[in-house]
Amino acid sequence: MTLEPGIHHDAERRVWALAMAQSAYALGVTPEGFVQHLYWGPPLADLADLPDPSMPPARSGQEPALSLLPEEYPAWGGLRLGETTLRAVFADSTRELDLRFAEATPRRVGDQPSLTIVLRDAAYPLSVTLEYRLDTAHDCLTRAVHITNAGTEPVRLERAFSGAWHLPRMLAPRHLLTLAGQWGGEMRLQQQPIVPGTTMLEARHGLTGHQSYPWMAIESAVGEVYFVTLAWSGNWALRATTEIMGTTTIVAGIHDLDFAWPLAPGATFTAPDAIAGFAADGREGARHRLHAHIGAHIVPQPQELRPVLSNSWEATLFAVDEPSQMQLADQAAGIGVELFVMDDGWFLRRTWDDAGLGDWIPDPVKFPRGLGPLIQHVHDRGMLFGLWVEPEMVNPDSDLYRAHPDWVYHFPRRPRSASRNQLVLNLARDDVRDHIVAALDDLLTDNAIDFLKWDMNRPFSEVGWPDQPERIGEIAVRHVEHVYAIIDTLRQRHPQLRIETCASGGGRMDLGMLRRTDEAWVSDNTRPDARLAIQAGISHILPARVQGAWVTDTPALLRRQEFPLDFRFHVAMLGVLGIGGNLLAWSDDELATARHWIAVYRDLRPVIQAGEQTWLASGEDGVSAVQYRALDNSQLALFVFRLGDRFQEALPPFRLRDLAPAQRYHIRQEGQPDQTFTGSWLMGHGLYVPLPDIHFASALVFQSLNRA
Ligand code: DGJ
Repeated sequence: MTLEPGIHHDAERRVWALAMAQSAYALGVTPEGFVQHLYWGPPLADLADLPDPSMPPARSGQEPALSLLPEEYPAWGGLRLGETTLRAVFADSTRELDLRFAEATPRRVGDQPSLTIVLRDAAYPLSVTLEYRLDTAHDCLTRAVHITNAGTEPVRLERAFSGAWHLPRMLAPRHLLTLAGQWGGEMRLQQQPIVPGTTMLEARHGLTGHQSYPWMAIESAVGEVYFVTLAWSGNWALRATTEIMGTTTIVAGIHDLDFAWPLAPGATFTAPDAIAGFAADGREGARHRLHAHIGAHIVPQPQELRPVLSNSWEATLFAVDEPSQMQLADQAAGIGVELFVMDDGWFLRRTWDDAGLGDWIPDPVKFPRGLGPLIQHVHDRGMLFGLWVEPEMVNPDSDLYRAHPDWVYHFPRRPRSASRNQLVLNLARDDVRDHIVAALDDLLTDNAIDFLKWDMNRPFSEVGWPDQPERIGEIAVRHVEHVYAIIDTLRQRHPQLRIETCASGGGRMDLGMLRRTDEAWVSDNTRPDARLAIQAGISHILPARVQGAWVTDTPALLRRQEFPLDFRFHVAMLGVLGIGGNLLAWSDDELATARHWIAVYRDLRPVIQAGEQTWLASGEDGVSAVQYRALDNSQLALFVFRLGDRFQEALPPFRLRDLAPAQRYHIRQEGQPDQTFTGSWLMGHGLYVPLPDIHFASALVFQSLNRA
């Protein structure tokens, strides 16, 4: 028997165990009042097994006791030599903290058990509340931190991370898994042996970024996985430091570069959520837990599945107008699309990327009657209507910038570096935030818009605020807080509104953004073989239900190679299916193929978007295979991809995972006779999937519902 999921406490020994379905986490208070990490790993059977919290003995004068203590929230100060989470400067210029335990309270946040622990500085009126929220079903532990200045003098925070995680000593080989990339090539999995030293992942230019995702996982020699991801959409840092003895400490939070937070008397600073978990069943187990946690606790509408969309960007670029979009909408409706999205190009003077950003009113030349007739046309065809916006930006050639040249980040004597011909609005300013709320609220009030694609197409530069130079260390945080506040306000005023997060593809799809948006545009690269790698990477974190994926034309920009239409559909069907190609140029045969796959997708949508996704192969040997399983085993789908078959060798059978051993599965693949196997056979021997004899072959196999 293991401890029941929830919070367990031994008051006498001052220890707490946070028990989840298949993992546990434990901490305690040392006699000196330090909050010590005690355990993270497989479930616990008895609190009595936990050691008494205590200071470890000093190893030498160079390794004092405090430097060896794994503290839950090690603040900069005293003889702490390892990773730290908090740095503060008091009014008398004292730069160190001495945080001691004050009280602990178990609570419930919604259906999640939680524990809050209050620490107080030994000499100054500053308190730190550590919050632990348990998703007991999915072994995900969310941490947040609230830092309060209870005194009468200001305090300056120079670092305020979300937590520290201490992993048990691990023998080699152990690996660090991270995601790295760039625009058009996001989220490629990196694996490196862990050696003593520090690995730092970071974003420094205002958004989550294409280069690195705020997630890291550590895999032990026996394949157990620990992971941490930060729910924050601006500058961030994740550091993993491994000591020579084999312990690793991870710290994560808002980047302390360019960060200096004035904590006024009475004020509280809240560090964003970080979500961590342990999976004894390895990478797939870690993936399943995060997907399930995101589906249940992060996305704003857990019960909803995402509609099949079509998007105008690759079809018509900036040349959108009422007739072209109505024609595109007719074609989209004809093949079963459910959400028609008009991308960039619809607003004042927007004929290319060098004008218009900031002026969120329909261009009178392209839309002389406004957006109303187009939206009505789309709704009349049974589709939802979506619109692209990029609210944080301005083109110098815009009415907004001409009226408010001081509303962008800048320094008085430096040129303002334009990127993609645009500048970043100083969203740290309340008046800019209020202006954007008003502009978008008007747009949504005047037009029956169901969906916004919220884009963000350049990093920050010249992050200055000449009117308020003393607030410069707040900018990067305030910007993100105000983006969140704008979205939250719009969603509250327009409850039907759904939102897609986009930043030149997958530049901002962290869990902070996904808490208030419904799906993410994963990459501008829709070349299907590249896309498979990108989707394999981001699928370590994000479930299919939020991964926007389009079928686009071929060959085209970034896709010089020809790809079969079925292959393109199968890749896009791994996530939220969308059509990005120019449907006006598709042949009748192509439209029929599209109609077919959209209908199949709509049937399989519950298992793809709400089922459990397992990558049986992730591109190794040119093969990818992705299994989707309904948790009650009522539905099953398997997509298989082959990037090339140079030697005419058949693929081995694919061994499916986590099926019900005794259940009989009725397997259907188009063009093949139906087959019936037990779950045991499919898991033990595997399923042969015949593939067409073509370059870039793919197949979809699924459980035939009418015979199941
Ligand atoms: C970048 C996005 O990733 C694209 O999908 C498209 O919306 C363009 N911006 C429009 O400018």
